[in-house]
Order: sequence, then C-alpha cells, then structure tokens
Amino acid sequence: MISLSPFRASWPGDYPPAARLLDAAKMAREKAYAPYSGFSVGAALLVRGRPEFFTGCNVENSSYGLSFCAERSAAVAMVAAGKTHPLAVAIAGQDGVPCLPCGACRQFLAEFNPELLLVLDEGGTPAVVSLAALFPAPFLLNRENRP
Ligand code: THU
Repeated sequence: MISLSPFRASWPGDYPPAARLLDAAKMAREKAYAPYSGFSVGAALLVRGRPEFFTGCNVENSSYGLSFCAERSAAVAMVAAGKTHPLAVAIAGQDGVPCLPCGACRQFLAEFNPELLLVLDEGGTPAVVSLAALFPAPFLLNRENRP
C-alpha cells in the first residue's frame, strides 16, 4: 500500500469528524455505475456552513473515455447547488485502501480549492492528506493566467 506520509495534513477541530465524511463517501459509492471496471468509488465534499455533504460516484460509459470519476461528479453537484469553495473531500474506493484521486481530478478539484483536504480510507481509519502536497502546481487560468 502507498505511504501517505509525505502528503499528510491535520484535520481542523471545527470541522465535522473526518470519519463522518468518509462514511458519506462510502454511502455514495453504493450508487456507482461501474459495469466496465467493476471499481466503485464514492466521494463526499464538505462546504463551510452546510451540515449536509455533496456526494458523487463514478459513472462509466460504453464509450470508456466519457466516464466520470466520483470526485468530479461530487464537485459538479456542489457547483450546481451554488457552492464553489469546498473545504474537504472524502474518497472511498476499495474498503481499507486509500483511493488517491487521478491526475484529472486533482486538477479539477484544485480549481475550487488548491488547499483542499482529502480524507482517504487507510485500513478502515480516515487518513487526512492535502491536495496541495499531492498536486502542488495546478494550472489556474482564473488566477495566474488571466489574459
Ligand atoms: N475512479 C474514480 O471515480 N475516482 C478515483 O479517484 C479513481 C478512479 C473511477 C474511474 C473509473 O470509473 C474507475 O474508477 C476505474 O478507474
């Protein structure tokens, strides 16, 4: 199993328990549509001042390249509900195994918060890592590259 040590971060005391966010990601995973890979993933996003989480699951397609990852579908649900600043996202793939977001999702999530915290399932315990450590230099058109 990959070592998360270089990426670890602390969980702020005023956030809801990381375990609750991970549980919500596991519940969202139940809705995954993954008939091709057989790999179900759920994600749950925490936004300030909202007790409920935004959730998503992976949604695959017969045309494989059109498939959506769970993290991106949760972020789309968040934006559709009028929120654009997530604080943390929990990701649940295989039970007990940390499911790190793919490169495309790291970029997609960094758009909304490059300092986002990630909660992963490390042997049944929530592990907190930072997106900034996993993906330190996102492309940010709206901040650094505005024409
Ligand atoms: N997947 C996610 O939804 N999130 C990840 O972090 C990794 C991969 C999905 C994409 C595809 O539907 C399946 O898992 C196998 O790659």
